[in-house]
Order: sequence, then structure tokens, then C-alpha cells
Amino acid sequence: MQILRIEGGRRLSGEIGIQGAKNSVLPILSACVLTGGETRLNRCPALSDVYAAFGILSSLGCKCRFSGGIAEIDSRSIGSTEIGDALMRRMRSSIIFMGALLGAAGECVMSFPGGCELGPRPIDMHISALRQLGAVIDEKHGRLICQAPKGLKGTVVNLPFPSVGATENVMLAAVCAEGETVIVNAAREPEIAELGSFLNKCGANVRGAGCHRIVIEGVSRDKLHGCEYTVMPDRIAAATYLCAAAASGGEVNINGARVSDIEAVINVLRQAGCRVCDSDGGVYLSAPAVMNCVNTVRTCPYPGFPTDAQAIVMAALVRSRGMGIFVEDIFENRFRHVDELVRMGADIKTEGKVAVVRGVDKLTGAAVSAPDLRGGAALCVAACAAEGETEVSGVCYIDRGYEAIETTLNALGAKVRRE
Ligand code: UD1
Repeated sequence: MQILRIEGGRRLSGEIGIQGAKNSVLPILSACVLTGGETRLNRCPALSDVYAAFGILSSLGCKCRFSGGIAEIDSRSIGSTEIGDALMRRMRSSIIFMGALLGAAGECVMSFPGGCELGPRPIDMHISALRQLGAVIDEKHGRLICQAPKGLKGTVVNLPFPSVGATENVMLAAVCAEGETVIVNAAREPEIAELGSFLNKCGANVRGAGCHRIVIEGVSRDKLHGCEYTVMPDRIAAATYLCAAAASGGEVNINGARVSDIEAVINVLRQAGCRVCDSDGGVYLSAPAVMNCVNTVRTCPYPGFPTDAQAIVMAALVRSRGMGIFVEDIFENRFRHVDELVRMGADIKTEGKVAVVRGVDKLTGAAVSAPDLRGGAALCVAACAAEGETEVSGVCYIDRGYEAIETTLNALGAKVRRE
């Protein structure tokens, strides 16, 4: 088992680049199933979730090569539409292969997906939406048997909640469906817009991705082909490094990060007293020695404050002046980092989906355990600002979404060692 040993109390400063976005590359990798060609992805991040997606693609018969941040996927030789249980359990995003395989082959067999434990993460919206397109989905012995006996047909799919994964699944299934599919109340995250751009570059006809209403005109599968695409910068990783610098009273320039992707996070950091601006193709932040806590941070679908940044911003604000309230409205079980932050001296009380943070003067290093991906990153942020040494275990969670987090933090002057 690996740990990160972090010697805190250093002011972080410097300039870093940003990795490709996990939440963008995963749906793009599953879209490769549809294209039936060769695709080259630049800035593909080396993450365990990305390796899990390569595992699924390979098991379906695709050829995957990955080196130096470039992934090449050849999906001309897909021979299977079944994903084994162990592969499905490796990450939640495995579920978006359902729409892609139904769209490509009209059938698939898979089990329920795994992923971080953020409370119940049902897939009812995915299944209901795909059924509206004509899929027949049965659950037998823990397996989902999916077929489209009469092919998929475009229709109006009204999502009860703008679920990111359900929107992606419908987009993927609709690319080659007969006629027009309209997704109403679609998720508007930047990663959805990117999936639309990628699909269009491969010959699909998707309009409005990134808006409430997405229209997909079905095309015949032989019109699709591979392409070369550069994965968007990871907005949550960018938010993490901004928070790490802010927590230590530091200064950072993140080249390649986009202000527009993380405006809700930047607004909170500005309220806390940081100066944040667009820096010619990047994001610049400079923080005061001690930040002010902020009134209320409530997680919402994009463009609201992202649930993925809740733990990270909380960690940055535990050492601050004043009191702040965090309301987690997206996932039920997303305060598991709180007990770990309390071990480091934070003053946080939770009640259901509300956490009340009272700023403290100092944090002290402790042995803590990453409860999930973003919770683990939050512990690294707090550890950089804490006095003494922190030992973070559960690093495998952090590796799902951060490309060598220790290397990036060390480039800013932190002292992090992986053991
Ligand atoms: C994606 C992101 C994840 C982020 C989340 C919310 C990826 C790979 N993951 O996850 O990092 O935290 O968006 O921004 O892109 N729900 C249902 N039924 C469903 C589907 C979802 O009840 O069929 C609920 C979920 O339990 C959750 C909420 O809807 O409470 C949001 O989930 P969703 O937007 O689907 O998140 P994911 O796509 O899983």
C-alpha cells in the first residue's frame, strides 16, 4: 500500500501545466467503440481510471497504445460486446459503455459499475433514457442484458435531473440511432460539450452539447471514423492546485487551465481574499497569508459550484478567519473527508448534507486516510498548509484522478514523498 508523506508549512509558489481531464477523456474513450476507426488522443492523462477504460476497450477487441500522454485506440476489430464484472467494478464511468455499445452493436452485457463510494449512485436515469430510445434492458443474476432488437430510434428524452453520465449515455446511443434525439434538461458540464465536439469530429451530428437542450441527428455507422483530438484541461485538478496554493498563502500560475471552466470555484476563492485572474492562457492566483472563510458554498450542477471541488475548497478554508457553511446537494455521502480534516485540527461539524466550518489558526500533520478521490486530494491540500508531517494513506483513490499529484505539488515547492 502506498502513502504520501507531506511535510507542510511551506508557502507554495510557481508555475505548472495542467493534465488532461479525467471526466472528459473517459466518455471520449467509450465513444471510440462507436467510431470503428483509429483515434489519437493528445494530453491523455495517465490515471488508473483511464487504464481501467483501456482494459475495457481491450477486452472488447480494440487495440490500445498509450505513451507520452498520447493514446491511440483502434476500434476496427471489436469482437465482443460483453464487459466482465471485474472491469465494470473498477470505476463508475464503465456505465457509459452501455450507450456506446448499444449504439455500435445494438447489444451489450455488463454488470453494475463500481467507483468511489459517494452514497447511492443509481443508474435508473441511464436505463430509463436508453429504454426510451428502444433498448430492452433486463437484469439477470446481477448482469444487465441490453439489446435493441429493432434498432435504436431517436425521440425526446426528458431527464428528471441533469445527470452527467446519463446525458453522455444518451448522446452516445443516439449518434447512430434512426432520426433525431432531443435531450431536454441535459447536463451542461464542459465535458459534455467536449464529448459533442469529439463525436462531431468523428462524423456525428450533435448540436447544443453544453446547453440544456442537445439535438442529435442520427447518422449511419459507416459515416463515422476516428480522429485526432486533444483532451481538455482538467478543471477539477486545476481547482485543486489553486486551492493548495491558496491554503498555504501562496501564488500559482496554472498554464492551460481555463477560468471559464471553474468560475464558481474562483468566485469562492475571491470571496476568501485571493486575487485570481486569467493569465494569458492560464489561471493566476495569489493568496493572503490567512483567508476569510466564506458564507455558503452549495454544490449544484454546472455552472454552479461543482461537487468535485467541495472537499478541496473546504480543505483550503479550514485554516481561515470566520465561519462557513458547505451544503452538498449532489451526493449523499460526500463529507467523508471531514473526520480526517478534524484529525488535523480542523473545526467542522456536519449534519446531513450541511457542514459548518469554523476557521482555525493552524492545522497539524497527522496520519489520515483518503476516503475517496476528491476527499484524498483535499487531505493533500490541508497537509500542505499544516505544521509538521502528514501521512496520507489510500493513495489509490487519488491516483484515479491525479497524474502524480506529488510531482505537481513538489513543482510548487511542497515536500511530498510517495512511499
Ligand atoms: C459525474 C462525474 C463526477 C461528478 C458528477 C457530478 C464523471 C466520470 N464523473 O458523475 O466526477 O461528481 O458527475 O458532477 O464524469 N443519479 C441518479 N440516477 C441516475 C444517475 C444519477 O439518481 O441514473 C444521481 C446521482 O446519484 C447523483 C446525481 O444524480 O446524486 C448526479 O449524478 P451524475 O451527474 O450522474 O454524476 P456521474 O455522471 O456519476
